[in-house]
Amino acid sequence: MVARVVPVEPFDLVVFGATGDLARRKLIPALYHRMQDGQMPEGARIIGAARSEMDDAGFRKLASVALEEFVGSAELDKLVRDRFLGRLGFVRLDATTDQGWERLHAALPDVPGRPRAFYLSVAPRFFGPIARHIADSGLRGPEARIVVEKPLGHDLASARALNAALSGAFDEAQIYRIDHYLGKETVQNLMALRFANALFEPLWNARHIDHVQITVAESVGIEGRGAYYDTVGAMRDMVQNHMLQLLCLTAMEPPARFEPGPVRDEKLKVLRALAPVNGLGAVVRGQYRSGNSQPSYAQEADNPQSRTESYIALKAEIGNWRWNGVPFYLRTGKRLRARMSEIAVQFKDVPHSIFPGEGGHPAPNVLAIRLQPDEGITLSMTIKDPGPGGMRLTGAELDMTFAETLGATSLRMPDAYERLVMDVIRGDQTLFMRGDEVEAAWAWIDPVIAEWEERSDRPRPYDIGSSGPEDALMLLHRDGRRWREIEA
Ligand SMILES: NC(=O)c1ccc[n+]([C@@H]2O[C@H](COP(=O)([O-])OP(=O)(O)OC[C@H]3O[C@@H](n4cnc5c(N)ncnc54)[C@H](OP(=O)(O)O)[C@@H]3O)[C@@H](O)[C@H]2O)c1
Repeated sequence: MVARVVPVEPFDLVVFGATGDLARRKLIPALYHRMQDGQMPEGARIIGAARSEMDDAGFRKLASVALEEFVGSAELDKLVRDRFLGRLGFVRLDATTDQGWERLHAALPDVPGRPRAFYLSVAPRFFGPIARHIADSGLRGPEARIVVEKPLGHDLASARALNAALSGAFDEAQIYRIDHYLGKETVQNLMALRFANALFEPLWNARHIDHVQITVAESVGIEGRGAYYDTVGAMRDMVQNHMLQLLCLTAMEPPARFEPGPVRDEKLKVLRALAPVNGLGAVVRGQYRSGNSQPSYAQEADNPQSRTESYIALKAEIGNWRWNGVPFYLRTGKRLRARMSEIAVQFKDVPHSIFPGEGGHPAPNVLAIRLQPDEGITLSMTIKDPGPGGMRLTGAELDMTFAETLGATSLRMPDAYERLVMDVIRGDQTLFMRGDEVEAAWAWIDPVIAEWEERSDRPRPYDIGSSGPEDALMLLHRDGRRWREIEA
């Protein structure tokens, strides 16, 4: 099976911070793959911008090394690579000064109708200055768009300030706020599953669903990002953005059309319907301790007194008719047993079992949408245990691992950035967050953080390689439920 590729119009893409980690690890490989798949048209150009002393040839060398490292030399098609490198140019500029902007202007000839995207792969403190410089130096035509990504604020006030800085220079219709989870195939498949099949939607409500679990478990620690992570923690780093976006897509009403306005309106309604987190018992914060000669979080962060959470579990409730009384349990953490992300929708028990008890009880159906590893969807069912010997019940899974089900074991699953960057060029904001969504998410998060910052207790310790702190188990036990296993 071959993925269908729709080429985009010739474009100019300026990557601010092109010498940085995000550009080298994600953007340059993503753009290379788009060229390999035939999506990048003749005449498309990518211009790197940063302060480093570098010319076009130097940037091509940097990109070539990045491709070797992050695509891998075995996977790299040398002809495609050389064509790709030929599209690259570099402009030296400093986002905080007026220098270099005329060089960028000169590198971007005015072609009516040609999409021009500015990707801000730099720290958020540069978003405002860069947006203003783009506008002031006459680079913001009607086809211009600006791309930013997390962290989109530290709290509601800073998110508002960031939105104000961006919208001082660009219209909302030109601002693309990336949450790369929305670029994942499975996450888009969640929408296809819900809204392109008649099967699930009638059951997708409090009458039939018992609860939802959203897990983003990582086996790695803070990996050299300690100084940054210690000022942020799991709530801000994962829950405010990725996990709430997953919750929104699971819980939203069917939008009238799969278009930016209707989809984002529905997500916003979910965020605004989130009930305030109900007291201390509804949130568990954790921090991994040392063990097996591996350092603790506090040691990795080089902050022995750190009260930052490397793990969080919480119970969210959505105050509307569809979800009344259905808890959404969210948990995310570092140094857990395995790297595993999924949304699990657990249906209610059958109202009455007709089968004799000795044959086993029907287990509730669970629809699990797995983001990683092995993107796919499984539906667990109760069936009859095959063979004679009476009516015995057993569990079975309908498994749709995408790579296998789509006959696509040889088909590379595109990285989220590939999809999202091409959506920017096409001018499709459906999979990007609107400013009011980001603010609504912070408005829900802020009081929770404010509450624990007022208290002096520390996050609960948990073992490296475990499923998180004991108290997180209790969060569900108290409700007569249990977490799903964290397993790869
Ligand atoms: N890395 C990731 O996987 C990832 C994922 C999601 C979000 N993000 C976010 O994306 C942003 C960039 O992250 P990163 O990891 O790529 O950071 P990084 O490795 O520190 O790169 C920062 C880039 O900004 C440039 N830069 C710094 N000051 C500048 C200035 N005054 N004018 C122009 N360019 C300047 C740097 O180049 P020069 O020094 O040459 O100027 C460099 O290219 C951060 O906000 C980060 O939180 C990163």
